[in-house]
Amino acid sequence: MNAAARPFAVHTPAVDAAAFKAGMRALASGVTVITSCADGRLNGMTATAVCSVSASPPRLLAVVNREAASHGLIERGAAFAVNILAHDQDHVAARFAQRLERPFEGLAYAQGETGCALLDRAAASLECRLHERHDAGTHTIFIGEVIAVRAAEAEPLLYFSGAYRRLAPHAHG
Ligand SMILES: Cc1cc2nc3c(=O)[nH]c(=O)nc-3n(C[C@H](O)[C@H](O)[C@H](O)COP(=O)(O)O)c2cc1C
Repeated sequence: MNAAARPFAVHTPAVDAAAFKAGMRALASGVTVITSCADGRLNGMTATAVCSVSASPPRLLAVVNREAASHGLIERGAAFAVNILAHDQDHVAARFAQRLERPFEGLAYAQGETGCALLDRAAASLECRLHERHDAGTHTIFIGEVIAVRAAEAEPLLYFSGAYRRLAPHAHG
């Protein structure tokens, strides 16, 4: 097949960050707040780079920028919790996408056995002990062993093409 007939460009090291982001905007995802707890401090950060790894043992991964305050807290506390946001918690996502002095002010939450915050009204909260970490350039892939799960029957908040969304039934559904 000649290059012109290829339907999609294949890998090229010339792909810059803007082109990469333009492609990734097509990926719709759930929205989480990853909470952490160390040095007497609680924190949270909005994250979409969260993924199931295995059910037995129960493990998930989260990809965290090394520059996020949460990065050091996850490492020092050796734990984190993934709070999967419900459809009407876009204001919570917006809050935790910033670095804050008092991240939980006015928010209802409980603390799990690791001390990490489990947000009230989240669609689900999965509390993890840090199991493994893998360097990935600007980011670290944290793999957590899930030690507790709290789930509610709530529709999820979604993030797609730079905006928060919610589920809609499929026309053929
Ligand atoms: C929709 C959305 C998704 C995000 N996903 C991630 C992510 O998966 N990993 C990450 O490191 N930062 C992600 N961020 C950026 C962090 O939320 C942001 O840097 C935050 O301020 C970090 O907080 P901290 O410095 O208090 O830890 C995302 C931001 C938004 C708005």
